[in-house]
Amino acid sequence: MSIFQKHKLEHIYYLVKPDLSRVEIAIKASLKTGASLAALPMLNHILNAPGKRIRPILAILSFYACIGEVSSEDPRYKKLMDISSALELIHTASLIHDDVIDNAMIRRDQRTINAEWGNEAAVALGVYVYSVSLILIARAGLISILADLSETVRLMCEGELFQLADRRDVDLSVDRYLSIVERKTAVLFSTACFSGAAVSGASDDTIRTLQSFGRELGFLFQLTDDYLDFFGKDGDLKKELGQDIEQGQMTLPLLLLRDRLSKEESDQLVQIIREGRKDQLGWVVERMQRSDISTEYSQFMSGYISRATESLSTLPASRYRDALKEVLDFIVERIVY
Ligand code: FPP
Ligand code: MG
Repeated sequence: MSIFQKHKLEHIYYLVKPDLSRVEIAIKASLKTGASLAALPMLNHILNAPGKRIRPILAILSFYACIGEVSSEDPRYKKLMDISSALELIHTASLIHDDVIDNAMIRRDQRTINAEWGNEAAVALGVYVYSVSLILIARAGLISILADLSETVRLMCEGELFQLADRRDVDLSVDRYLSIVERKTAVLFSTACFSGAAVSGASDDTIRTLQSFGRELGFLFQLTDDYLDFFGKDGDLKKELGQDIEQGQMTLPLLLLRDRLSKEESDQLVQIIREGRKDQLGWVVERMQRSDISTEYSQFMSGYISRATESLSTLPASRYRDALKEVLDFIVERIVY
């Protein structure tokens, strides 16, 4: 991560520091309440590497962008805290399961739950963490949000199922890839912005605007993630590179490359994907550089960037709206072409 990027996130963390501290406390308390000795070491392990907290940040910034600052005693604020914590727990649960599905060994610079405790424990822990998010939402009486969050998780599971069904499908279309990205990542980003706006009591138009902003942002997040699986610098990503080749997952960088290679090299690529030859990452990256896919990639992203920026421009000016723009910049600038 460049110094410039770190600075961007730090500014946002500073802006929502008291809110994020409350979310942190709620996450820790809800995960640990009643936890048995069997679950505690695993829970401590995930609490030890908290990630960027982008989803709670989006809910909090969306809330403030709608109504400005409110007292921490305001019932709307209390709802925001519960939802923000639940969003992060859902995300955490999904990553625990995703690492089982992808057989990933490293996440957030530490060993994954499946690497440390095995797949069986990781499956159970993922459901455990997901259930804690549901308890939080139910206890807060946020029944309509419960329906939204459940639909979001249903779509996320569908995204994973599509992706599994499409493994090693070298003929995958860009449209199908985008429908996976929408389900896997964009819906939760969208729900984060939507729910922050909804609990603030904003107008339907404003809620829809933030929902669309979150959706575009979610696409951009996954698009940058998929790019960085090839071009991430050591240590930046805090997970292994080349996972998509290993899993035979045709992401956008591979789809663009596939359509640019000569017949001979394209056959070679097909073989690499079919056999999950992660050791051929260097060959693939070199061909991507030679074919200049980064130019096409940034053009592809520009549509999402302009729609997201346009959504924000319809909101009233505030430092929270500016901070949402900074989150957008942060996500886009994860890629240094
Ligand atoms: C990471 O994808 C995974 C996701 C964005 C979502 C995974 C969703 C599920 C497993 C279904 C939902 C499950 C629960 C329990 C809520 P990736 O493999 O492309 O990214 P990575 O490189 O970070 O692993
Ligand atoms: Mg994965």
